Amino acid sequence: MPQQTDARVARPRRFLMCRPSHFDVTYSINPWMRPDKPTDNGIAVLQWERLRNLYLGLGHQVELIDPLPGLPDMVFAANGATVVDGRVLSARFRHPERGPEGPAYLEWFRARGYATREAEFVNEGEGDYLVVGRRLLAGTGFRTDRRSHAEAADHLGREVVPLELVDPRFYHLDTALAVLDDDEIMYYPEAFSARSRAVLGELYPDALLATDHDAEVFGLNAVSDGKHVLLAQEADHLIRELVHRGFTPIGVDLSELLKSGGSAKCCTLELRGEPRK
Ligand code: ARG
Repeated sequence: MPQQTDARVARPRRFLMCRPSHFDVTYSINPWMRPDKPTDNGIAVLQWERLRNLYLGLGHQVELIDPLPGLPDMVFAANGATVVDGRVLSARFRHPERGPEGPAYLEWFRARGYATREAEFVNEGEGDYLVVGRRLLAGTGFRTDRRSHAEAADHLGREVVPLELVDPRFYHLDTALAVLDDDEIMYYPEAFSARSRAVLGELYPDALLATDHDAEVFGLNAVSDGKHVLLAQEADHLIRELVHRGFTPIGVDLSELLKSGGSAKCCTLELRGEPRK
């Protein structure tokens, strides 16, 4: 059974974020991106600032990486790497438009003394790798090469559970599944192959299941600290269900970033553990 209200405890987190100073939609590498539609960089920055201030207000630490001109998607820090116990697996992007982001994020970690491994295979960081307790849920299908999964298991020292995405609108695992706690998740079953759906059903029989609407407004691109869950404010069904399970949902408006196919989680990379020299 889902836990009861007063059992929810927030654990302070460290996040890495990247201000969307150069955010725009200039190419299309997922079905949400429409370069012909206007974006407003000022609004994107304001929405991002609000997200950052929410984290700070909840007592989390937010580190920043400098945004680079010519990399309009660099705001999506979740894709920059995967960090577990102070170990870092670098990202290697599928599309050349985002290619230089991999080395930029890797350099940030190297400069701070993290034990980094430069990825051999395509993987888009926490876009496709989600830590749930001792497990690493690993997406594939659109971006991350499945050969990357063994590399992640080896360097990050976690049991990897491969999950196959089948709907191009939900091209990263973190658009279709969110980690709520060490053994609790929410997800959109239709985004996964039948086989992966069965795996999820077995591992997480009490998971909160998203509706079509929840998924389409990117409600699953959420960040939880174990108590507070930041997610798209339009995801009304998820918000109600989270309250019911004793979480404190906090709705956020990231409408500008949604034009690039991203929301709260995409803007947030969790830094787990201190650098290991
Ligand atoms: N426009 C970006 C892309 O398609 C959005 C990335 C969203 N990030 C995420 N973690 N899902 O690559």
